[in-house]
Amino acid sequence: MDNKFNHLIDMDDYSVAQWNELVELAEKIKAAPEEYSEKCKGKIMATLFYEPSTRTQMSFQAAMIRLGGNIIGFDNPSNSSVAKGENLKDTIKIVSTYSDILVMRHNQEGSAKAAALCANCHVINAGDGGHLHPTQTLTDLLTLKCELGRLDNLTVGLCGDLKYGRTVHSLVKALACYPNNKFVLISTPALALPSYIKDFLISHKCKFTEARTIDEAIGSLDMLYMTRIQRERFDSDEEYERQKNVYCLTKAKMQYAPKNMIVMHPLPRVNEIETEVDDDPRAAYFRQAHNGMYVRMALILTIMYSSPRIKPLLTGEIHNSVCCTNPKCVTQTEKYLPHSFIKYGDIYICEYCDERILR
Ligand code: NCD
Repeated sequence: MDNKFNHLIDMDDYSVAQWNELVELAEKIKAAPEEYSEKCKGKIMATLFYEPSTRTQMSFQAAMIRLGGNIIGFDNPSNSSVAKGENLKDTIKIVSTYSDILVMRHNQEGSAKAAALCANCHVINAGDGGHLHPTQTLTDLLTLKCELGRLDNLTVGLCGDLKYGRTVHSLVKALACYPNNKFVLISTPALALPSYIKDFLISHKCKFTEARTIDEAIGSLDMLYMTRIQRERFDSDEEYERQKNVYCLTKAKMQYAPKNMIVMHPLPRVNEIETEVDDDPRAAYFRQAHNGMYVRMALILTIMYSSPRIKPLLTGEIHNSVCCTNPKCVTQTEKYLPHSFIKYGDIYICEYCDERILR
């Protein structure tokens, strides 16, 4: 169960130098998109969206069409054989023989890696449950570059659902790799950043502080990253009701923000940014969504014409008798997957979803 195709499952599938090259290529495409309009002529991209999406799905589709390629796929699995009980492996095995590149969004954590293991083409993770969302991060990197001119020496405030917000997890993992970036984590204790991401910050010697309110942090930031409370990931409605509406960015709060600070948001917004903020020139979220299309054009081109992958997808130890304890892990339902773990002393880390299991 492995293949030689290049995939984007997590940011670390590429080096920092390669992220920079992708951002540079996206800037070139943005400046002259017509020069790229035949680069993927005759190629097919499949978009398999098991979860709702507007920007990610359509920007991928627009990106492929602007490169001269074609698209197939579904945005509602209940219209596909998934509704008849088909497993992920069979769907991916087949669709990947129809296409050159497969973009998938799925509700289970680790599902993108599972798909890549079975695929006969390149796989791009367009969001795997509350885990990761690397192409949003590429969008965010391009936006920071366009708006602030740099990816280092930044003080970044991350606000809202840091627990289930997959965009936050991928963004932190990326920005931690650039020199002298600092983070202010603004959330309630119930929605704090998962410990595996905090450990990533610590191992990369990245400074971070925690705050309960936007007001106490906003004055020191270069970028404020607002996020939606991820209703669909909560175990109960009561818990969601307790957390919703805690954070709301208003014009009044923006008065205390530095004049060069920008506000980003992966969107969709619910009510965490008042619409009155949209007219502030520092509100970069609509420009950010637009950038998503160019960075995805750059990614499709780069992956499509890349040389074969060397690193195996699973690098840990296989222990099929050990089960991941995360109920949202893809291994809970896709029973054929090898149970692969990275071992740190007594701790086993699931190679699909990053859950830590104490043995
Ligand atoms: C995000 C996602 O799906 O994780 N949206 C996106 O891709 N632009 C954020 C969200 O849904 O809140």
